[in-house]
Amino acid sequence: MAEKEYRIPQHVAIILDGNGRWAKKRLMPRNMGHVQGAKTVEQICEDADSLGIKYLTVYAFSTENWSRPESEVGAIMKLLRNYLRDCIKRANSNNMKVRVIGERSRLSDDIRQKIDELEKASENNTGLNFTIALNYGSRDEIKRAVTEIASECADGKIKPEDITEQMISEHLDTRGIPDPDLLIRTSGEERLSNYLLWQLAYTEFYFTDVLWPDFNKEELKKAIEKYNGRERRYGGVIE
Ligand code: FPP
Repeated sequence: MAEKEYRIPQHVAIILDGNGRWAKKRLMPRNMGHVQGAKTVEQICEDADSLGIKYLTVYAFSTENWSRPESEVGAIMKLLRNYLRDCIKRANSNNMKVRVIGERSRLSDDIRQKIDELEKASENNTGLNFTIALNYGSRDEIKRAVTEIASECADGKIKPEDITEQMISEHLDTRGIPDPDLLIRTSGEERLSNYLLWQLAYTEFYFTDVLWPDFNKEELKKAIEKYNGRERRYGGVIE
């Protein structure tokens, strides 16, 4: 595929799925799938940047993922801890600006601190805008936004009739980030699993059977190719 002939989506959102099945297929513990999945995240950031994608948002840990066995949650948190630590160096060598969305109070103090350091260290970088959804759930994000807007109304700062869609977008964790053009979910599942429900209103969806640890630049190009075969009409009619 000649990269220049394709329209490159500005923002790609990904639901990383299939780490566990990838490990199971190899008779390995599930955690090895997460370790490999984290390496794939690193590689895909570089690939997305080299293809000209400006924003990449990945679903690393959902509000529902806490219900996994304690040992698995512990292993994922350890992996994220190491990832966030190493990411500071990588973000600066790749010129990547990293943000984390989701509800932070349930994360441990040291993880919260690493997130703050990473966001601060990379805030002036001008390359790929990489967003990690961590303890993220879209309904929780919308609930938090509604609570903030309601208290601004109660304080008399705004009137209920002045609430706009734009105002709601600006109260979400993704404020300042354009809505995704393309959503990819790996491993054959075709659900949104509480991911970016507001932001995906007009996004094209691409589902692939490839398990996340096996996802690579070629697979990303296939998704972009498919995206190019579709027209986004935003509910309107093309003349
Ligand atoms: C998806 O596969 C796994 C997760 C959503 C858990 C954690 C993700 C990672 C560790 C990837 C690393 C991310 C970053 C930002 C470093 P699954 O366990 O649901 O797979 P299965 O459906 O095959 O069981």
